Amino acid sequence: MIRSIGITAIALVASCTLYAQTPAKEEYRPAYHFSAPQNWLNDPNGLVYLDGEYHIFYQHNPYGNVSGHLSWGHAVSKDLLDWQHLPVALEEFKNGDDSTQTMIFSGSAVVDSANTSGFFEKGKKDGMVAIYTAHKHANLKGLAQYQNLAYSADKGRTWKHYNKNPVLDIGLTDFRDPYVFWYAPEKKWIMSVVKALEYNVQFYESPNLKDWKLLSEFGKQGDVSKIWECSALFQVPVEGSTDKKWVLTLSSGHRQKDYLAMQYFVGDFDGKNFTAQKQNEVLYMDEGKDFYAGIPFNNLPGKHQKPVMIGWINDWEYANKVPTEKFKGAMSVPRELSLKKTDAGYRLVQSPVSITGLLEKGTVLSNVKVNGNLPLTFKGESYQLTTEIEIGKAGKFGIRLFKSGDEESVLTYTISTHTLSFDRTKSGNVGFSDRFPSVESIVVKPQNGKIKLQLLVDKSIVEIFANGGEQVMTDVVFPTKHEGNIELFSEGGQVIFRKLNIQPVIK
Ligand code: FRU
Repeated sequence: MIRSIGITAIALVASCTLYAQTPAKEEYRPAYHFSAPQNWLNDPNGLVYLDGEYHIFYQHNPYGNVSGHLSWGHAVSKDLLDWQHLPVALEEFKNGDDSTQTMIFSGSAVVDSANTSGFFEKGKKDGMVAIYTAHKHANLKGLAQYQNLAYSADKGRTWKHYNKNPVLDIGLTDFRDPYVFWYAPEKKWIMSVVKALEYNVQFYESPNLKDWKLLSEFGKQGDVSKIWECSALFQVPVEGSTDKKWVLTLSSGHRQKDYLAMQYFVGDFDGKNFTAQKQNEVLYMDEGKDFYAGIPFNNLPGKHQKPVMIGWINDWEYANKVPTEKFKGAMSVPRELSLKKTDAGYRLVQSPVSITGLLEKGTVLSNVKVNGNLPLTFKGESYQLTTEIEIGKAGKFGIRLFKSGDEESVLTYTISTHTLSFDRTKSGNVGFSDRFPSVESIVVKPQNGKIKLQLLVDKSIVEIFANGGEQVMTDVVFPTKHEGNIELFSEGGQVIFRKLNIQPVIK
């Protein structure tokens, strides 16, 4: 659950008029997915761990509930689930020689424990540096996007911009979203950054975060139906072995025309070049309409064997129009990433961090036989549902979420095609954008005659992990009836839900 203002934050908030109030109960505000205390949110930025705290910074409009005035919002957590909101960390520039309205676009944060940047006092090991895109307003003369630094000596609470910014400017208008990490084998920093309109990722190196040298480029492959944004390069362990491969993730087009998604490439990185394995299909991370701009945490402690990524749950196609008041946009539950070796090559497996601590024991059912429609007695709008279903000989079966009369968000498995689809065409308020009502499908092969599902349902969010996270779909929905009913169904024969566990969030 998300605390809006923690004890420590109250002191800080005294000097900051933003976020002085706890938000009232709101129709669509998720209970366990991160959202801004008020107003607009998009990409996660600067995900970094330091001394017992996970930091999330995020694209944020402190003044309104649509995209604009982009700044870095900030919150910290000890467990990746319970977030304490802090004052805005980096606010758009309004004055100074940069003139009005240079927004702080997406970027990353690192802990400069060796003080390579020289920003910190001698011996200080916990200095934090943010590397972000400065986006000059289109009306201003000059270049529109370049990379800047800001640094914090007090664990992200207060920041100074580097007085010799920018640190990387190549004279392009769409050059953004630096993701920086420490490359231990050569003791240097690596940055991946996109030339968005050219479907190109550039890699740079630096000894000190200030001077950057171009190493190589990667691009014009995979999905090039939309501009490329928010790249990240990181190592991911291969399941069942001690191997690790490098994965390059980025945000771009979707399998369905004119929606957005994240795609990835698996390969090797030698400190200079990223080389992708041969792949005969585009690899999408999440086939839903609402998982974008994800980046992994930097500086995770050793207990994390796998990288942890957070993505923005929304889609630019309609993001500004979604019918949420007081807040707009939320983050996924953090996901642990690993790779599975398959005959077709390596594939990402995504698993949400355990949210069990937030949940009641709930309803545990076994061997539920379904033939036709079976409404459950459970009612709720924020819960985790896990199930193992023996597919048997039915034609189709599934789960209707947020079911009230004709209103429903439907998850259907079609046995003949092994497809799992999510249909939100009748999910409630669908009229705010022509682009919103939609259906998508993923292929989910049964394993020993069963499929496994884990659903993270939270007011207006449905994250669907199939077969242990081998396939994923994330979508927003806006039910209007708020009855929180669930109905199981099967058409053309019987299906058995061998295990079914529905756990509501502790109130
Ligand atoms: C991705 C993105 C980034 C940019 C930011 C602006 O959603 O367009 O490329 O830095 O959002 O908010």
